[in-house]
Amino acid sequence: MQFDVFTLLPEVFPAYLETSILKRARQRGLIDVRVHNIRDYARDKHHTTDDTPFGGGGGMVMKPEPVFEAVESVLGRDSGTPIILLTPQGRLFDQRVAEELSSREKIALICGRYEGVDERIRQHLVTDEISIGDYVLTGGEIPALILIDAVSRLLPGVLGDPTGAEDDSHSSGLLEYPHYTRPPEFRGESVPDVLLSGDHAKIAKWRREQSLLRTLKRRPDLLEKANLTDEDRRFLSRMKDER
Ligand code: ADE
Repeated sequence: MQFDVFTLLPEVFPAYLETSILKRARQRGLIDVRVHNIRDYARDKHHTTDDTPFGGGGGMVMKPEPVFEAVESVLGRDSGTPIILLTPQGRLFDQRVAEELSSREKIALICGRYEGVDERIRQHLVTDEISIGDYVLTGGEIPALILIDAVSRLLPGVLGDPTGAEDDSHSSGLLEYPHYTRPPEFRGESVPDVLLSGDHAKIAKWRREQSLLRTLKRRPDLLEKANLTDEDRRFLSRMKDER
C-alpha cells in the first residue's frame, strides 16, 4: 500500500518510519511511504506557504496554490485516490476507519499546519477529513503517522504473527483480554491458572470473558456496538447483577 504524505515538516517522518515494524514493512515492500514537502511546490521567490486570513483575526492560513500544486503533480488530477486532510474538524478516526482505509492501494494525506487551511482546499481538493481525537495539535503530522501506523499493521504480512491484529483491542469492538508471560510468579502475583492449563477451549472462554469484563468496566459505551453472542450477553448480565 502506498501513502503519499504532503507536509511542511517532512523531517518529522523518517525517525518513526525507520523503526521496528514499519521499517520492516517498508523493506519488504508491503508499504511505501512517500513524503512530499509542500514548500517545494510554492512558486514564488520565498516559497510562501501561508498568509494572513482575509477578514482579519489572528494566525496564519495555509495557501491553496502550493497544496493543489503538490497534490496534483504527485497524483495527477482526478486520480480516484482518497485525499485525506488531517484536521480536528474531520470524522473521528477509529479501528473501523483504519480497516476501511486498509483496503485501498494508495491514499494521500495532507497535514494541516498554522490556524488552518484555505477553505478551497477542503472544498475542491480533499475527498475526506479525519481527526484523531477531540483535541487540537499543532499540526497534522503526528495524526498522519498514527493513521499510517494503524492502517499498516492491518495489512497482510506486516505483523509477524498472521493472527496478530485479530484479537486486538477494538478489532472485535471489545477491549483485549489481559496478557501474561514468564515468570509464572512475580512479586507474589501469579499468572491465572487457566493460562497454564493447556486447555485451549477453557483459555478461549476465559479470554472472551475477560475481554467482556474489561470492556464493561472501562468502556461500557463500546458494548452497544460490539458483536455479542447470546452467551456473551448472559455473562454480561450475570456480571452486572454481581456488581
Ligand atoms: N491537526 C491538529 N489537531 C488534529 C487532530 N486532533 N486530528 C487530526 N489532525 C489534527
